[in-house]
Amino acid sequence: MNFDRHRRLRSSINMRNMVRETSIAKRDLIYPIFVVEKDDVKNEIASMPGIYQWSLNIVEEEIKNAYDSGIRAIMFFGIPNHKDECGTGAFDDDGVIQKATRLAKSLYPDLLVLADTCLCEYTDHGHCGVLDDHTHDVINDETLPLLVKTAVSQAKAGADIIAPSNMMDGFVAEIRKGLDEAGFINIPIMSYGIKYASAFYGPFRDAAESAPSHGDRKTYQMDPANRLEALRELQSDEKEGCDMMIVKPALSYLDIIRDVRNNSNLPIVAYNVSGEYSMTKAAAANGWIDEERVVMEQMLSMKRAGADMIITYFAKDICNYIDKGEY
Ligand code: PBG
Repeated sequence: MNFDRHRRLRSSINMRNMVRETSIAKRDLIYPIFVVEKDDVKNEIASMPGIYQWSLNIVEEEIKNAYDSGIRAIMFFGIPNHKDECGTGAFDDDGVIQKATRLAKSLYPDLLVLADTCLCEYTDHGHCGVLDDHTHDVINDETLPLLVKTAVSQAKAGADIIAPSNMMDGFVAEIRKGLDEAGFINIPIMSYGIKYASAFYGPFRDAAESAPSHGDRKTYQMDPANRLEALRELQSDEKEGCDMMIVKPALSYLDIIRDVRNNSNLPIVAYNVSGEYSMTKAAAANGWIDEERVVMEQMLSMKRAGADMIITYFAKDICNYIDKGEY
């Protein structure tokens, strides 16, 4: 025969498993948890079935669920009681995230707690920084010191990794300097430096109650049409000293993950965002797709594109799949 027999390596499950190029492990997963400052709330997010807002006084249950599933990295998003112009709740040492971080670290000292360093959940206008009174645009350089204060406060509370998602220019350099000066030289920065102005964040903004009250985030988040711009962001963040790079969203941006992989030696993180979760959940709830198979195929696609880790709302489900299947 004058052709190649590719089917030889697909002949049985053990043969296929042996030649598998990519796999999903629990250690790849980072699980986001929404924490509310007020008491006694366990509120399912309508657009994110299976994901809840948890009050500080009961969030222990969800941290335990995650830990018992085998998850070893979580990320908190806070919904504070009080919001103001400058997002002061973000850098309050007794703020909702700081308290949740201290709680998680006291329950499970080995659990990695990632801190999302941004102001949008804490500002009354919902933007990621301080606004100019006239243009209503976020003022880059006045926002930076507030982000530094936030990161230092998160590190003081016990956060293991600082993950700044605000998209101000220079945030990696300034936060690195601030952490070092405060004595946190060993706390890594996982930069959300490649973050697109995406409609896929819609359900998250319901969950975190952080939709901007006017305008959009297009003057600081990236244009979905651009690919080279991602590499320019990568170069800046590497130069400024970031330790890991997030690409966000993930599934419509697999080409970007691959570009970053080919242009960087840093660990790469794919953020499988809220809208991606909601679409999959909605189709599965209608019986239109097989949820487990679709979720695992999505995870494989992110790893195949070059991601080392995945931030995903499916993390607990994936742990269950891994416990009973072969991935
Ligand atoms: C905060 C932040 C956002 C997300 C993560 N951190 C929202 C935004 O930029 O509006 C989105 C996550 C998701 O959609 O799952 N700046």
